[in-house]
Amino acid sequence: MLADRHSSQHFLTRRFAMQFGSIINSVRAQFPALSRTIDNQPAVYFDGPAGSQVPQAVINAVTHYYTTHNANSHGDFATARESDAALDAAALVFADFFYADDPLEIVWGANMTSMALAMSRTLAKTWSPGDEVIVSQLDHDANFTPWVMAAERVGAVVKRIPLRKEDCTLDIDAYQQLLSPRTKFVALGCASNAVGTINPVEQMTRMAKQVGALVWLDAVHFAPHDLPDVQRWGCDFAIASAYKFFGPHLGILWAKSELLHSLQPDKIRPAPNTPPGRWMTGTQAHELIVGAAAAVDYLAGIGRQLAPGTDMTRRAALLTVYQAIKEYEQSLATRFLQGVSELKQVRVWGITDHTRISERVATFSISHARLKPCELVEMLDRHGIFAWHGNFYAVPWSEAMGLEPDGVTRVGFLHYNTSAEVDRLLAVLCELE
Ligand SMILES: Cc1ncc(COP(=O)(O)O)c(C=O)c1O
Repeated sequence: MLADRHSSQHFLTRRFAMQFGSIINSVRAQFPALSRTIDNQPAVYFDGPAGSQVPQAVINAVTHYYTTHNANSHGDFATARESDAALDAAALVFADFFYADDPLEIVWGANMTSMALAMSRTLAKTWSPGDEVIVSQLDHDANFTPWVMAAERVGAVVKRIPLRKEDCTLDIDAYQQLLSPRTKFVALGCASNAVGTINPVEQMTRMAKQVGALVWLDAVHFAPHDLPDVQRWGCDFAIASAYKFFGPHLGILWAKSELLHSLQPDKIRPAPNTPPGRWMTGTQAHELIVGAAAAVDYLAGIGRQLAPGTDMTRRAALLTVYQAIKEYEQSLATRFLQGVSELKQVRVWGITDHTRISERVATFSISHARLKPCELVEMLDRHGIFAWHGNFYAVPWSEAMGLEPDGVTRVGFLHYNTSAEVDRLLAVLCELE
């Protein structure tokens, strides 16, 4: 049944995917921040991997919550009921976003890092000395150190999936060797926030399942570029952070219902005994939950714009917009890679072969032969281009690549960026040849 829904939705996405470029101006007009100028030139936001800009619809949703429904949960009066209804509606939105069976599988939290730390403490209660936990060298520290610390506390063994340094992909053969009947837990990233590699998480989850391990997927860097699908991935947990995909600062966890029931999180009396409430400590950021749902609805709205006259479910609209975004971002990435391949002073880390463009998202870490990353970022800033330097807390990666302490310069393209902006970046890099 799910598979049928999926394939018919996929058909819709392919029919309408090509039109994204034609609506880019109306898309950009929805983001107030994008009208910012620096020295009379439009600012270029290539800092998206560290946090995206938000559309007016998200700002409106947060404001509307405050001006209309602001109340604590479970009160017997109008605003409390309205507030609860808004939160229930947001859980439905995120069930569609993750492709979950049930909105009760959606848990809110402050951010991915806090939620991973809390989950690591909970899962460690089920681990014994000698059990094995697998992490990867391509992950953000938030999807690495929580599991390492929790494993060390109970005497579990930590194994690390190594990198293939030539293209910054995970070594799947080595991963196969690491799996054993003692593997209890595998933490993987869906896409690298440093080099953009998309990991084959569906295949890697299947491999982990053959030894009976639980699988946690960090979709934080994936979600701005592609739509999560926990049914296809076959994982046990998936987590995203709304500020990376056009929403406010909020962590959103999906977990299998039976695990939300059976695992024992640390909780105190205000939290109920049933999920998802038993996983949430204290009062949640209601306005941000509503704002995060508005970010998903903003995306679905573009999906509907791309397929006018069709009566799509929210999930189908999301599949449509993400297919369009993916192809559009791939065109920006290809343009960048082609331009940069002519520059002698610039090195791009990770996948650079444009025939493999579908194996990466449009997040690029680069090094310049003469300029330190901080100097290159300063130079870009002088041209009104916002970028980051450092390791972006993808520390296992930067250490493995020998890129500490200076790191690299990172530019990330999101669906609101344009080919003209990519050309402006290439022009600055060209001047530095
Ligand atoms: C891939 C990835 N995972 C996890 C995190 C941490 O997310 P949060 O800031 O929500 O704690 C980040 C933040 O940059 C990230 O890029």
